[in-house]
Amino acid sequence: MAQSKADEILEEIERSAHGRYLPIIGPSRGRVLIEAVRRYRPRRILEVGTLVGYSAILMGRELGEGSEIVTIEYDRDEAEQARANISRAELTAIIKVLVGDALEIIPTLEGSFDMVFLDAAKHQYLDYLRLVEDKLRSGGVVVADNVGFMSRSMRGYLGHVRDSGKYESTFHRSGSDGIEISVKL
Ligand SMILES: C[S@@+](CC[C@H](N)C(=O)[O-])C[C@H]1O[C@@H](n2cnc3c(N)ncnc32)[C@H](O)[C@@H]1O
Repeated sequence: MAQSKADEILEEIERSAHGRYLPIIGPSRGRVLIEAVRRYRPRRILEVGTLVGYSAILMGRELGEGSEIVTIEYDRDEAEQARANISRAELTAIIKVLVGDALEIIPTLEGSFDMVFLDAAKHQYLDYLRLVEDKLRSGGVVVADNVGFMSRSMRGYLGHVRDSGKYESTFHRSGSDGIEISVKL
C-alpha cells in the first residue's frame, strides 16, 4: 500500500529525533493516542503543546472530513516548523496551529471539544484542564501524556481526574512512562 504523505512526515520527524532531544510522543505512546482517537471518534480536538506537529499529524490522519484539531504552541519557531510539517502532511484543512500561551488562549476558544490532548508544561495540566473543562462535552475524553515519569509534577491533575467524580480515568503504562485517559461523565 502506498504510504501517505502524513506517514512520510511522521517517519521523518521520528528519524530527526534520533540522537537529539525532541520530546515528541513517539510511536509507542503514540499508539495509545491513536487507539483513543479510533475508540472515541472525536470530531473536534484541542491539543496543548504542538512542538513540531508530530502528535497533531498522528491524530489528524485518523480524522475524517469536517473534523478539526486546534493545537497551541507558545514557541514561535516550533509553531512555524509545525505549520510546515502539517502542510507537507497535507493536513492544513484539519489542523489549526495557534501561537501563544495556552493559559491565555484556551479561554478565548469558542465552541466545544470532544477530545483534549495535554502535552505542554507538566505542572500546568490541571490549569489547562480547568480552563477547557466547560468546553469539553460529556462523554468527551482527556488524554494526558507523560503521566508515568512526571507523575510527581501532576499530583493535582491526577487527583482531579481520578477522584473528583467528574471523570472515569485509566492509566495506560508504556515502558517507563504512561498516558492517562479520562472520560468526562
Ligand atoms: C512535549 S512537547 C509537545 C510534543 C507534541 N505534543 C508531540 O508529541 O509531538 C511540549 C510543547 O509544549 C510547549 N508549551 C509548554 N508550555 C506551554 C504553554 N503554556 N502554552 C503553549 N505551549 C506550551 C513547549 O514549547 C513544547 O513545544
